[in-house]
Amino acid sequence: MKPVILDVDTGLDDACALLLAARHPDLELLAVTCVGGNVGLDQVVVNTLTVLEAAGRPDVPVARGAATPLLQPVRAAPHVHGVDGLGNLDWPRSTRTTDPRHAVELLRDVLLEAARTGDKATLIPLAPMTNIALLLRTYPEAAAGLAEIVFMGGAAGIGNATASAEFNIWTDPEAAAIVLAAAGELGVPVTMYGLDVFYDVKITLDEARDLKGSPSADLARALIEKRSELYGAEGASIGDGGAVCAVIDPAGLTTQAFPLRVELSGSWSRGRTIVDTRDWTQDLSSDPYGAAPTVVQVATAVDARSYADLWL
Ligand code: BDR
Ligand code: CA
Repeated sequence: MKPVILDVDTGLDDACALLLAARHPDLELLAVTCVGGNVGLDQVVVNTLTVLEAAGRPDVPVARGAATPLLQPVRAAPHVHGVDGLGNLDWPRSTRTTDPRHAVELLRDVLLEAARTGDKATLIPLAPMTNIALLLRTYPEAAAGLAEIVFMGGAAGIGNATASAEFNIWTDPEAAAIVLAAAGELGVPVTMYGLDVFYDVKITLDEARDLKGSPSADLARALIEKRSELYGAEGASIGDGGAVCAVIDPAGLTTQAFPLRVELSGSWSRGRTIVDTRDWTQDLSSDPYGAAPTVVQVATAVDARSYADLWL
C-alpha cells in the first residue's frame, strides 16, 4: 500500500478525492489536513469529517490548519461548490472532533515517522498550499518523510479563477512559491496536476446513477449529480479526485519536466504558474535572470476513461 496524506479545502471535488483515497485498497490514508479555500476553515473541517465518515473511515486523523492564505484574505467559491462547500446537499453532517494538533504539527509527526520507518508518504495538496508552505518553512526536516508531492493546482494553459491563474495557486501564490522552492532545495519530486487535465476525468449521470448500496456510493453519486446540476452539464469531472488517481496509477498520466515559477505580482497574472516550455531553458545551471526555478513534472494529458473507471 502506498502511504498518502491529503491536504484539502473540501469542496465537492475534494470530496471525490477523499472518498477515493479513503477507500482504495492500494492507498494507506495516513492523515488529512484542512485549509481555508473553497469555503472557510470551519466548514472545510466539517465537510472533511463528513466525507470520511461516509467513507467508513472515522479512524483517519483530521487536523485544522491555516484559515487564511499567507498574505491575503481567503476568497471562497460558493458559485462552484455551494455556500457550504458540498452543494448544500441533504446529507447528515459529522459532529466528530479533529485531531488536537495543528495541521502543520500533524504533518510533521506523520512525516517524521515515515522517515523513521523508511515508508515515505506521498503528499497530495488539493487546495491552497498554505499548510504545506508553513510545514516546509517550520520543519524542513519533515521532507525526509516525503516520497513526492502531487498537487492539484496551476495550469500551463488558461486559468479558472482568472484567465491567467488557477484557483488554488491564485488563492495563495506565496505559499505555492515557497513550496516549489523548498521542494527544489530539499530534493522532493513534484508533479503538477493542473487545469490542463483537471476537467478531463468525467463521470456521466448514467454512471453516477449506478453508484448505490453504501453511504460512500450514495455520497459519490450525490456529488456528481450536484456538480452536474451546478455547472448545467450532463455529468461532471471528479476534479481533485484525478490527482488521487494519478498517485494510484501514474501510468495513466502523461507528464513532462518543465521549470515552474509562480507569478507573485502582475495586475492580471498574479497566481499564474509559468511553465517554461522553451526548449533552451532545460539547462538551468546558468539561468541568467535570477534563482533557478524548480523543475516539476507537469501533467499534459490523462487517460480519462481509465481514471473515471478507477474512481467508479
Ligand atoms: C481547484 O479549486 C477548487 O475549487 C477545487 O476544489 C480544485 O482544488 C480547481 O481550480
Ligand atoms: Ca480543492
